[in-house]
Amino acid sequence: MTTIKTQVTQLVIHSLPAASLPPPENAGELVLLRVKQIPLNFYRYLYSVGRPHHWTSRCLGDKELAREIHAPNVRLQVLYRDGAPAGWFELDVGRAPRQTRLVHFATMPESRGKGLARYLLSQAIVAGFEDGPSGLVVETNTLDHPAALPFYRKMGFRPLSVREVTTIGFQETDAEQDPCTTSLPRPA
Ligand SMILES: CC(C)(COP(=O)(O)OP(=O)(O)OC[C@H]1O[C@@H](n2cnc3c(N)ncnc32)[C@H](O)[C@@H]1OP(=O)(O)O)[C@@H](O)C(=O)NCCC(=O)NCCS
Repeated sequence: MTTIKTQVTQLVIHSLPAASLPPPENAGELVLLRVKQIPLNFYRYLYSVGRPHHWTSRCLGDKELAREIHAPNVRLQVLYRDGAPAGWFELDVGRAPRQTRLVHFATMPESRGKGLARYLLSQAIVAGFEDGPSGLVVETNTLDHPAALPFYRKMGFRPLSVREVTTIGFQETDAEQDPCTTSLPRPA
């Protein structure tokens, strides 16, 4: 395990855009589904997209992970392209008063560059305003995909604050210390 310094930008959007974006043409058959009580290993598969970006907050054992992601304030939607997961997002609708958080947002590597993130984020914004919050907040840091920050801005989010944070990172050479692997039960 290693620690890395990163700059976190918090952004907010205060109202639902007048129209949501249509799905991109020629990107395959798309279906967006809300997943209730997501199986933990399916979640771990989706979350693995964050590995190159040092996402570690959900690298937890079964009980702790279930407590986080099966909580009533957490809403998860998965976008399927031709039957396979192509992207997903996770909202937290309860923690801050009248504020929804877009906790995780990603498209799967094999589905990128097709306009799916634009469509998916547009749908995440719609879902984020379902409970009538005064704002939908997202955070992105300099370890995330470099397209993420300009993309959120283009989609209507406005920066609220920037802060420096030290976070845990993956060290590819040291699997024994990998915080995501070590949280899983080991084979007998
Ligand atoms: C960032 C991410 C969501 C983009 O997904 P995508 O499916 O490739 O995005 P789209 O094809 O819908 O493109 C969205 C915008 O990002 C831009 N973009 C996407 N990949 C890019 C790249 N490699 N370089 C520059 N811009 C890029 C596109 O040009 C597009 O902008 P436009 O609407 O002006 O054309 C995806 O790479 C991802 O999930 N990354 C890992 C997780 C992450 O960083 N999540 C976001 C932070 S929480």
